[in-house]
Amino acid sequence: MLVFEHVDFYHKKNMPILKNIHFTIQAGEYVSIVGKNGCGKSTLAKLMNGLVLPKKGVVRFHHLETRNAAQLKEIRQRIGFIFQNPEDQFITTSVRDEIIFGLENIRLPKEEMDQRVQWASKAVDMETYLDSMPHELSGGQKQRVAIAAILAMRPQCIIFDEATSMLDPLGREQVLALMHALHQAGLTIIHITHHMDEVMQSNRVLLLDNGQICFDGHPIALFETINVRDYSLQEPIAVKIHQLANEAWSLTADWEGAIRLRWDTSSKT
Ligand SMILES: Nc1ncnc2c1ncn2[C@@H]1O[C@H](COP(=O)(O)OP(=O)(O)O)[C@@H](O)[C@H]1O
Ligand SMILES: [Mg+2]
Repeated sequence: MLVFEHVDFYHKKNMPILKNIHFTIQAGEYVSIVGKNGCGKSTLAKLMNGLVLPKKGVVRFHHLETRNAAQLKEIRQRIGFIFQNPEDQFITTSVRDEIIFGLENIRLPKEEMDQRVQWASKAVDMETYLDSMPHELSGGQKQRVAIAAILAMRPQCIIFDEATSMLDPLGREQVLALMHALHQAGLTIIHITHHMDEVMQSNRVLLLDNGQICFDGHPIALFETINVRDYSLQEPIAVKIHQLANEAWSLTADWEGAIRLRWDTSSKT
């Protein structure tokens, strides 16, 4: 359970980025976070695993608080973070070392490490690439290796911060399928995205604007109640087709009305 209690955040005191953010994400939820560029989505994500700390209020993961320095390490182990650009997160020169890197930091026995490398690389379908260089992989493969490195730490929650935005359609599809599978396996998934089609895969969406959460609910309810274009976002293709069909229907209705009118006037003469 991830809890934000009346959280304020700013870099400069008179320029608030997040104001009085208050919500709870239950274990096992799949939550999307959307909003225009610069509205504070990444800041919200960084607050979740203590990469930045609230100026006011509290961020908790179960009984752990990000403002408690002694608990931060455990929070970061339990909440993994996947960034937009996979290149940014590689430190070593092989897929195997990349997955082992975090495990060495938590000082696991070698046998356990090897088991986790096998298991995590298999979970993302990259077990045949363990000796490859991360930089030689495709974008989608790179993100899958980054996910394997996180999975090996056995997290409870993974935050994807626009993790699909630099991928080609196939890479994007593979990463989205993996996110879905991880959710099915019981992980909490937090997905920051500006692809509204991807939002439909989640159970809940938070819309961030002007430093506040201005919608919190099911994705279908979002597109039914809010014109997402007011927030510089585009509705998913399925919703657009639905709206176009409705527009076409009302055009037909007007047309029929116009014919009836002409019929009425012509029949009087
Ligand atoms: N280190 C920083 N110093 C000052 N302002 C920052 C810093 N990092 C981000 N910002 C500002 O905070 C706001 C929110 O940024 P961010 O959370 O990255 O938004 P998003 O992820 O929604 O695009 C932006 O206006 C950005 O310019
Ligand atoms: Mg961002």
